[in-house]
Amino acid sequence: MTKKITVNTIKKYKAENEKFSVLTAYDYSTAKYIDEAGIDVVLIGDSLAMTALGYETTHAIGVDEMLIFTKAVAKGVTHAMVVTDMPFLSYHTDIASAISNCGLMIKNGANAVKIEGYGDYITDVIKRLTQSGIPVVGHLGFTPQFVNTLGGYKIQGKTPEAVEEILSQAKQLEKAGVFAVVLEMVPESGAKYITENLSVPTISCGAGRYCDAQVLVCDDVFGKFSDFKPKFARKYGDMKSLILECAKKFNKDVKAGRFPSDEEVF
Ligand code: KIV
Repeated sequence: MTKKITVNTIKKYKAENEKFSVLTAYDYSTAKYIDEAGIDVVLIGDSLAMTALGYETTHAIGVDEMLIFTKAVAKGVTHAMVVTDMPFLSYHTDIASAISNCGLMIKNGANAVKIEGYGDYITDVIKRLTQSGIPVVGHLGFTPQFVNTLGGYKIQGKTPEAVEEILSQAKQLEKAGVFAVVLEMVPESGAKYITENLSVPTISCGAGRYCDAQVLVCDDVFGKFSDFKPKFARKYGDMKSLILECAKKFNKDVKAGRFPSDEEVF
């Protein structure tokens, strides 16, 4: 039986310079297959606001919705670590509600939570969460929940000063207790420098080859979501074509009276 991935496994990966994989999942059967494939961390990313719910940004998704997807994914996973992305404003108003919202995910099957941002308030939240038994992944660089204050979908850390700034934010998160940090849309050289100067692993989301781990959105990897494709995502399959092909065949069979057959009736 494969052993469950825990924060200790992630620490060991960093100590032994071993890369690990993170993939999003939003439903029970996808989570089950991703787990079976040996992915280390399954992330219920708030990207599901776009890929599964058709929203324009991640802002509209709430704790109640993330909870439904967390329950479904957690039921499908036995080996990977399950991390839930905390939605916009679910940890920003005050520490007590941050703990109860994050705690709800843990009570329903998540092993850790991911929160975006930096600064005194966020480091306080991280300290209080870890003290409460909730492991936390940080998220720096481009942080989608901050798209309006960042002025759009922009690469972060483009100058040496900006890279130093992200490193200092990451060090604050590390000190507060995160066990890993996602770096999103940071140039490869900057992400390498940040990775080399942190004791917790970095997870690249469009931050190049030198991070300790890589994360992608499952719908991009499977070729299912086609509204847009980030430059850093790699499509390993064409689920959109497969779905179209199957749905068209079913449609034709129904209309031609070929479905159901003798074997498919009682
Ligand atoms: O929402 C998400 O899926 C994410 C990752 C891709 C890092 O935050």
